[in-house]
Amino acid sequence: MTQLRTEINKVCCIGAGYVGGPTMAVIADRCPDIQITVVDMNEKRIAAWNSENLEELPIYEPGLDEVVTRARGRNLNFSTDVEEAISTADMVFISVNTPTKRKGLGSGQASDLRWVEACARQVAQCAKGHTIVVEKSTLPVRTAEVIEVILQSAQQPKTDPKDVRSFVVLSNPEFLAEGTAIRDLECPDRVLIGGEDSDAIESLASIYKQWVPEERILRTNLWSSELSKLTANAFLAQRISSINAVAALCEVTGADVREVARAIGSDSRIGQKFLSSGPGFGGSCFKKDILNLVYLCNHFGLPEVAKYWQDVVTLNDWQQHRIAKLVVKKLFGTVSGKRIALLGFAFKADTNDTRESPSINVAKDLLEEGAQLAIYDPRVIEKQICVDLQRQSSTSPEAKSDSSKSTLKEEGAWWPTKDVREAISGADAVVILTEWREFKHLNWIEIESKMRQPAWVFDTRAVVDPIAVKSAGLKLWRVGDGVA
Ligand code: UDX
Ligand code: ADP
Repeated sequence: MTQLRTEINKVCCIGAGYVGGPTMAVIADRCPDIQITVVDMNEKRIAAWNSENLEELPIYEPGLDEVVTRARGRNLNFSTDVEEAISTADMVFISVNTPTKRKGLGSGQASDLRWVEACARQVAQCAKGHTIVVEKSTLPVRTAEVIEVILQSAQQPKTDPKDVRSFVVLSNPEFLAEGTAIRDLECPDRVLIGGEDSDAIESLASIYKQWVPEERILRTNLWSSELSKLTANAFLAQRISSINAVAALCEVTGADVREVARAIGSDSRIGQKFLSSGPGFGGSCFKKDILNLVYLCNHFGLPEVAKYWQDVVTLNDWQQHRIAKLVVKKLFGTVSGKRIALLGFAFKADTNDTRESPSINVAKDLLEEGAQLAIYDPRVIEKQICVDLQRQSSTSPEAKSDSSKSTLKEEGAWWPTKDVREAISGADAVVILTEWREFKHLNWIEIESKMRQPAWVFDTRAVVDPIAVKSAGLKLWRVGDGVA
């Protein structure tokens, strides 16, 4: 039986961020017959997406430059003209930020939906004819209802009876992980489409069918789709808190968390993935989504369930602060005035994203203790670190005169460095916080010769070769290592 569906020729995506940009680039790449316009109110971001120099794309994501090169200017465009793009689109994706609310009702837990609401109002105002509106951003369960109510207000014909407008709302959460976004989009485990209108569902499915096998396209009702995204992230985050809890236990019992992970991961019911202990999870989704889940559970009168999920976040916060405390303890109980090389500021490797990065809490705790931090990350720019640490940056102490040293203290005593070598020079300790590939093959003999002795290496990602570090004469602490 042939399924009914509205033909999709033009797509608009509101939000050119970490989700909207790569997702639309891959759809455009795979569906050359569909014209896609990604719009954003942030002019700088759009200019960066349009930049000839692919190094200037606003997001660093392996493989993204190739996809953008193939599609941009052909059927992929980036623009700030939101109204125009909405008015000509058959389908509008909403892919805007939904951070945790900072004040008011649900502050600290609920998602701030003001950007989603603004998008719905813009669509209500500018859309023409029949428009399928797709929620791409991660949203609390039943947000589609809010979007539908706003759109309904625009559904009646206005002065011109020919100006009949209709809308359908679908949920199509994105499961891509940063750093592997292109691979995840090109070969997804599943594509989830939630909705009540089978015509609209099949229209969206027809886009994905261009490259995703039919059996991986799951259709559910709206609320299951919205809740599945929150639940997937909550389960993944819970796994990390579980392995980090076990890591702490390994450290005091003589077990090794990697051996334990391998042993339990060999059980096919558990599986090997997502069992690396580290400095705690970061990223824009996990914490935000769990807090949102906590809020929803409380809202629906399920405080015990809320507490269960809250503890996943509590343990994650504890892990981040535990690492900073541990560094202080190993450095004879004080880091005041000591130089620490902090390697890695992104929340994971292969991204320039620092949202909720564990490095932020670890750095802040160490600064609070009076440490001087030389920070190196291959992709994160100085300006971003400044914003995250909410302090002015400073240049290297070597470059400063004595009179400026007091300023350095006031500024929080951290400075960005251009490479590992510069970061470790004169340091008492190296703290590895992101698992960048280049940190796996460092020349520890050379590093040891440039550090102040006795020098420590704190490897929160277990990326270094312990034998190489120890035989270079350095003291080593590795997460979850009972024999360190
Ligand atoms: C996550 C989900 O994986 C993705 O499906 C969803 O769409 C968005 O949120 P992302 O935040 O980009 O993606 O990265 P992810 O690879 O999930 O890592 C999240 C955090 O967990 C990182 O800080 C990472 O370092 C940490 N992590 C991950 C671990 O500490 N150990 C692991 O074994 C895996
Ligand atoms: P995500 O990680 O979910 O993609 P980002 O913060 O990286 O989130 O990107 C969201 C983007 O959405 C931002 O670039 C922001 O400027 C854009 N945005 C938010 N609201 C609107 C709006 N009403 N119209 C156009 N762009 C918007």
